[in-house]
Amino acid sequence: MELQKLSPAELCELLVREKIRRFFLVWDEEAGRVQVSHPQLEPLARLLEEDRRDFDRHEGVFVQVAPETGVLQGAFIHRTCRGQSAGGMRYWRYDTVEAYLRDGLRLARGMTHKNALAGLWWGGGKGVMARGTGLGTSDPAIRRRIYEEYGEFITSLHGVYVTAEDVGTSVEDMAAVFSRTRFTTCIPPALGGSGNPSVPTARGVVRGMEAALQHLGRGTLAGKTVAVQGLGHVGEPLVGFLAEKGVRKVIGSDIDPGRRDLAQRFPGLDLEIRIVERGDNSVLAVPADVVAPCATGGILNPRTIPTLQASIVCGAANNQLEDPERDDSLLEERGILYLPDFLVNRMGIVNCADEQYGYIEEDPSIERHLGDTWDNSIFNLSLKVLEEARRSGRTPARMALDLAEERSRELHPLWGHRGAAIIGSLVRTGWASVLQK
Ligand code: NAI
Repeated sequence: MELQKLSPAELCELLVREKIRRFFLVWDEEAGRVQVSHPQLEPLARLLEEDRRDFDRHEGVFVQVAPETGVLQGAFIHRTCRGQSAGGMRYWRYDTVEAYLRDGLRLARGMTHKNALAGLWWGGGKGVMARGTGLGTSDPAIRRRIYEEYGEFITSLHGVYVTAEDVGTSVEDMAAVFSRTRFTTCIPPALGGSGNPSVPTARGVVRGMEAALQHLGRGTLAGKTVAVQGLGHVGEPLVGFLAEKGVRKVIGSDIDPGRRDLAQRFPGLDLEIRIVERGDNSVLAVPADVVAPCATGGILNPRTIPTLQASIVCGAANNQLEDPERDDSLLEERGILYLPDFLVNRMGIVNCADEQYGYIEEDPSIERHLGDTWDNSIFNLSLKVLEEARRSGRTPARMALDLAEERSRELHPLWGHRGAAIIGSLVRTGWASVLQK
């Protein structure tokens, strides 16, 4: 069986049999190929090299089978020119090793773009643990140990990747990570962290919507109708902020029947809540001015795009386009203005970015991202991207991507390309030669 077709659990079994506890796939710029720590894993290096979609000369992929819990734990490092790679850690189920690797690669690259556009001196990275490998999480003590082991793994990477919270991981889990490494953010406030970033994320999405409306000469959010897919950590405060802006109506959908109660929380708002089945994307097609995907990715595709009635799509969900190039073009052909996620959902990572610099009430380093005065605020950068896109004939998503690529190659003003040096040192000093017990 080809390595990439194995399930993550089967890969773990194979690694244990071969006494491989850790492995890496590292881009060798001089040789123009992916260097792999163990010859048995060569096919994974070839998979990356031959891929044109998700692999983008990522500086390094580091993976371990956690020594005690047996969970497959990885750190995906895309580009570290601007500084240490940073991004959340996802605990998710994957059918195959290939799906696991692709998700990590894609998400890490997205973080490079988001961090660069936000003006953070951070590179792009992502952590991924595969559900269904090693011990399960039903016992809280085991769950804690899984995250402690992830923290120990991050420590072993000497700071080339700084982790954070993401899907499947809670702030409490981050406390367990923090107990084993300094290279994490998004820890609970009780430990000096910034806590839940979803409220500023929702505020940032509102600023993106306002820029899009202004660009189209359609005024403000007052009196508009907005459809929100997903009424979770971001979607719920988003509804509140939209109400404050005087929207006429919000149509929200969620798969969780518990979300029906939300209507009581916004008594003055015309809020229609639809509880739907997983995979039901009909909320995207309602008559509205703006659609805000705030649930899962991949929901803009050839099946949904033709049904859209709104002229603006602006939401928090990561990777909304199922196929970035194809679906961006489809949206453009329909005259729908799409503001990419990595341009407007930066506040999660921004909230976590400066934890070590302390806190100030209504923190100016946070507020400037949400205001009108800083030229790199979400509102101003979105306007700039939209105007330059119009001038150059590119789509806003293409324009934002080109800008992000350019910025992501700027070197950290103090530390230069230190991440690449850390990776080189990990490779030279035998990071992967720790044996499986
Ligand atoms: P969440 O898990 O709290 O909320 C998502 C909500 O969507 C849940 O209530 C869930 O039941 C619902 N949902 C799932 N599938 C659905 C479907 N098909 N139709 C309707 N509802 C559905 O997640 P959160 O934190 O609100 O994040 C939302 C999105 O924004 C995610 O894609 C996340 O990666 C992204 N994001 C979140 C940030 C944050 O600060 N929380 C920052 C940047 C991105």
